Amino acid sequence: MTMNKQWLLASRPTGWPTEANFRLVETAIPTADDGEIVVRNHFMSLDPYMRGRMDDGKSYAQPQPLDQVMQGGSVGEVIESRSPKFAVGDKVRGGLGWQQYGKAKAELFVKITETRVPLSAYLGVLGMPGVTAWMGLSQIIEPKAGETLVVSAASGAVGGVVGQLAKAKGCHVVGIAGGAMKCKLVVEEFGFDTCVDYKAADFREKFKNATPKGVDGYFENVGGEVLDTVFGRMNAFGRVAVCGLIAGYNEAAAPMTQFRAILINRLKVQGFIVSERMDLWPQALQELAGLVVSGNLKYRETVAQGIEAAPRAFLGLLKGENVGKQVVKLI
Ligand SMILES: NC(=O)c1ccc[n+]([C@@H]2O[C@H](COP(=O)([O-])OP(=O)(O)OC[C@H]3O[C@@H](n4cnc5c(N)ncnc54)[C@H](OP(=O)(O)O)[C@@H]3O)[C@@H](O)[C@H]2O)c1
Repeated sequence: MTMNKQWLLASRPTGWPTEANFRLVETAIPTADDGEIVVRNHFMSLDPYMRGRMDDGKSYAQPQPLDQVMQGGSVGEVIESRSPKFAVGDKVRGGLGWQQYGKAKAELFVKITETRVPLSAYLGVLGMPGVTAWMGLSQIIEPKAGETLVVSAASGAVGGVVGQLAKAKGCHVVGIAGGAMKCKLVVEEFGFDTCVDYKAADFREKFKNATPKGVDGYFENVGGEVLDTVFGRMNAFGRVAVCGLIAGYNEAAAPMTQFRAILINRLKVQGFIVSERMDLWPQALQELAGLVVSGNLKYRETVAQGIEAAPRAFLGLLKGENVGKQVVKLI
């Protein structure tokens, strides 16, 4: 291969994005300058936060620039190095985005030396989503044995890890996910105590039955009606880690009616962004890797094939077509 295929952001969406918001281009494979490495991406990550960056409104991060390569996490192999930190053939995690090859300063990459775990896992359970799960749970919810812990988007990259970590702490773990197949996976493979399908007509009733002792900790990934339902079941001094609100990323989510639950239950509700505590990443990743290698932390991936498939897979992720971490396999 002599050329590099890249997806650029062609235009900003209004509401739901379409494939027309992206443009595929071909450029020459880059070469390294001093202190840089060139990487051939094996997998690239697709994540819900990318939808937010397609807008140019106020947020915690700068918008994705138009006509630039879509930003995002990637893992791959060093093919040229002008840094003493890396040799050709090293496997690395970095942020080269939606492209087959990329280059950047060597300090922006992390070497992957563990060979017992597939490379793609470093975009999911042993990457940003895994650390997100670990951080929201350990730093905000601080679960205790015997408490009821609820997590939404429970079959996803973040949610699946949250529930398993909480289960290991001795919690009664209740997942919320879209559809019977995802709920089955959450219980049978990830070991949650139960899982409620938020798409079912009697969701509120089923959720009430699934949480007979109320809710002590809630890991929020979704917002809208799901958030409203859980807030109506919170116990006094409950803790809520607000991680994501995906129900509102493309359209207005159902308004919240249970705000007073924060006052009457004296809840702690805290939003967080995983990149703001980089100091915690090494500890989180070490613990998560130990659990994955010992077989005590399960994960699922949905793998789209080839760079051309990226926009389609990204739109599918926003609609819940993925099970577990959504990645794109590039070679
Ligand atoms: N704060 C941070 O630093 C941080 C870091 C990473 C991720 N996040 C957030 O964490 C959440 C999960 O991310 P992830 O990477 O693990 O994604 P994911 O759960 O693997 O995939 C997204 C899932 O969201 C669910 N979903 C989509 N639309 C929904 C709706 N209208 N109502 C309810 N559920 C809906 C779908 O599952 P169903 O089929 O179950 O609906 C879909 O599979 C996202 O909100 C993301 O933005 C935050």
